[in-house]
Amino acid sequence: MAYQTLIVETAPEGAAGVVLIRLNRPEALNALNAQLLGELAVALGEAQADEAVGCIVLTGSAKAFAAGADIKEMSDKTYAQMFKADFFTAGARAVEQCRKPIIAAVSGYALGGGCELAMMCDFIIAADTAKFGQPEINLGVAPGIGGTQRLTRFVGKSKAMDMILTGRMMGAEEAERSGLVSRIFPADLLLPEVLAMAAKIAAQSPLAVAMNKELVQAAYETTLTTGVALERRLFHSLFAFEDQKEGMAAFVEKRKPEFKGR
Ligand code: CAA
Repeated sequence: MAYQTLIVETAPEGAAGVVLIRLNRPEALNALNAQLLGELAVALGEAQADEAVGCIVLTGSAKAFAAGADIKEMSDKTYAQMFKADFFTAGARAVEQCRKPIIAAVSGYALGGGCELAMMCDFIIAADTAKFGQPEINLGVAPGIGGTQRLTRFVGKSKAMDMILTGRMMGAEEAERSGLVSRIFPADLLLPEVLAMAAKIAAQSPLAVAMNKELVQAAYETTLTTGVALERRLFHSLFAFEDQKEGMAAFVEKRKPEFKGR
């Protein structure tokens, strides 16, 4: 499909098995509007359906991952219009329900819906220029795509309250220290480093990758006892796949495994 608000590249910079989705509304610092979220849902659907894709990278520009939901698009909406259109839900579901790993590569502003979109991904890698925040309070509203819930799980109640009630931004170092971000790179190295990471994931067994993703997600949703029981079941079930035999045989034979997704 031809996208107007995204640039979608397969195997960028030689990163085999990777799809790079770049948010591309430079005139609005990649603010999330209905068109962008609709296109993102299509792009993720295509990546999910393509067996050659093992990992997805979501990024923005050097200045902004995304500066939030599109305030100009939302400002005149009524409650009935927001409710009927179920604003933002379809786009958010596409990210939440994608079974392949999605890495957010964040440079510059990740504010409001932009921060929420990054948090919906499986992990966040930040440039040293990244700035995260939930400034909705300044607009007389609240985060609307999961910010109050996910930020609190990432950074704890005290810092989430501080961020959400004051609307302040936090830089990359504070974000890493607080557990929001997994790693930081200098801005010019962000994309090459994230693409190398994504290619490494894409070279693994897609079955094992999907099950590992499901298990870590379960840690967010369930009790320890239930989560550990699920892990045991899925761990045992991985022995039904050829990829387990190949992975372990390759270790014993001191060679690189060739996973086939079977
Ligand atoms: N929606 C619509 N347009 C936006 C936007 C947004 N969220 N953020 C930036 N833009 C537009 C600006 O209006 C401006 O357009 P014009 O040139 O036509 O005026 C253009 O992008 C460039 O922005 P600035 O001139 O403001 O750039 P700056 O460098 O001076 O400031 C910024 C950057 C601090 C990020 C500032 O743009 C800003 O504060 N943006 C809004 C951030 C925000 O409040 N986000 C939360 C949105 S609400 C939300 O996300 C709700 C939810 O949870 C669902």
